[in-house]
Amino acid sequence: MCGICAYVGKENAVKHVLEGLKILEYRGYDSAGISYIENEKLRTIKAVGEIANLEQKVDEIFSNIAVGHTRWATHGGVTENNAHPHLSFTQNIAMVHNGIIENYKELKEELKLDKWNSQTDTEVFVNLVETEKGNLIQKLISASQKAIGSFAVAILDKSGFLVLGKRESPLYVAYVKGGIMAVSDTYVLSGLAQEFFTLKDNEFAEIKNDKIYFYNKNGKKITKNSEKMQFFNKKTQIFEKTHMKSEILETKDVLLETFMKYKNGDIFSKVILPKKLKEINLIACGTAYHSSLQGAEYFKKMGISAHSYIASEFRYGNEILNKNALYIFVSQSGETADTIACAKMLKEKGMVCLALTNTPNSYLNQICENVLPTFAGKEIAVASTKAYSCQVFVLYLFSLYLSGKFIEKKEEIEKVLNNFELIDVDKTLVDKISNFEKIFFVGRGQDYITALESSLKLKEITYINSFAIASGELKHGTLALIDKKSIVIALCTEEKTKEKLFSNIEEILAREGSVILVTNFENSFESLKIPTFPSEFMPLIAIIPMQFLALHMCEKLGYNPDKPKNLAKSVTVE
Ligand code: F6R
Repeated sequence: MCGICAYVGKENAVKHVLEGLKILEYRGYDSAGISYIENEKLRTIKAVGEIANLEQKVDEIFSNIAVGHTRWATHGGVTENNAHPHLSFTQNIAMVHNGIIENYKELKEELKLDKWNSQTDTEVFVNLVETEKGNLIQKLISASQKAIGSFAVAILDKSGFLVLGKRESPLYVAYVKGGIMAVSDTYVLSGLAQEFFTLKDNEFAEIKNDKIYFYNKNGKKITKNSEKMQFFNKKTQIFEKTHMKSEILETKDVLLETFMKYKNGDIFSKVILPKKLKEINLIACGTAYHSSLQGAEYFKKMGISAHSYIASEFRYGNEILNKNALYIFVSQSGETADTIACAKMLKEKGMVCLALTNTPNSYLNQICENVLPTFAGKEIAVASTKAYSCQVFVLYLFSLYLSGKFIEKKEEIEKVLNNFELIDVDKTLVDKISNFEKIFFVGRGQDYITALESSLKLKEITYINSFAIASGELKHGTLALIDKKSIVIALCTEEKTKEKLFSNIEEILAREGSVILVTNFENSFESLKIPTFPSEFMPLIAIIPMQFLALHMCEKLGYNPDKPKNLAKSVTVE
């Protein structure tokens, strides 16, 4: 949430920052802004909406130093005044910020300024920095001691240098061609740098005279080692009109790619497990939580006790911790604040933690050290698709590995992946479903998990009110909602519950609800046929038409599936 990009060097900083912001736009796209120095004056330009709006305003500007920001609103509405950068009352420094200063109201009162230009916590933070003693880096360090909450900040000083600081939200800095760059995501550095530095929590940096100087929270200079850039796989990229469509279509390739990386067992053999593995607990948010639910099913099938938890619930819940459990944190971005908070908490309590992420060098990877990567490639569309499939798949492979069945299953897996089909949904069905006011997704067992994920996809990009329910639960209350205005999309891929689900469909039809059955089984209902693969693979097969359904309904409504409203690709606030 919120993207930061700063550049200082010989080349045009405004251009570099804009290019960086375009890559970071997945982190938020409510508004954007940039501060730079021109003729020794600190100037700031902002625009509501996408980066393209800002780009039009800064065309032809040249500066050697700039900080930029793309915003996902937390405090204060989507307005130009609330867009970053925010200037201090002296107008000497401009700050861009990713995170939340939780005690901003108290700090604001203490600052007693006559005038505030925005409703943001960031304007409070930049003024707090300004009123502290010392040079800018000292000011930032002491201000950060008073600030409660999370921040990644880049501050541009009017006299021509930058300072950075970080707590919880990500921030990286690197020597690039002709200069130095600070960014929220190392992906921006692809093609510009081979190495980068990760600012750890409560570390700070000063970028002056073509050099980066690092400081700890006590203001002491420290030396840091650089890390090698790890690149996303680009081999599997497909280019369609929207990222979401390309990413769904890449699913087969990225599953194969992921399998190739895991095939020889090396990655699994490096995983650190508890001495006596008694249970597996998976912790995640949103779509990643749904893949965790499916992962728990796989582990249970292999005889390993497993549970899946929503990170924001786990953190403040009363779960009993177990030294003999493996805690798996599933996250595409490796940045999600709720998931990170749980990982930090469990790590501190000495639990064995493992990150299952799609983002090399992510914060979650750093916390857990123990990592299982998914090789989905960069996922840009906000709605997660191919990354979900890779998470489910890696959890399946891991369940096989832990139960000693990985080697014997390899051949079957490769065969399935080579024949994997990406089933689309035709227009007639999309048109039909679009006519209904209420859309439900139902299923049993693993199909219920697919129903949950299908419903989330539809909600997040079409804004249609839909929800998923275990089909056996319909009769315990929700059937009351079923009428002529309702359509139920029923998923059915498991032999053992097939007949029960068919009875549930009859119950819906009896109440004048319409039903579309998504299944690989013969049946007498209106249905979307999907191919038959071994049961463990059916969640991977069945989710594809549901992702396409959400995509087509979104397109039909004229929305951009890549940038749904009120969402961001990485949710770095709790
Ligand atoms: C939905 C979606 C979100 C994310 C959730 C967790 O399509 O993308 O629900 O799954 O915000 O994100 P990660 O996986 O990055 O932790």
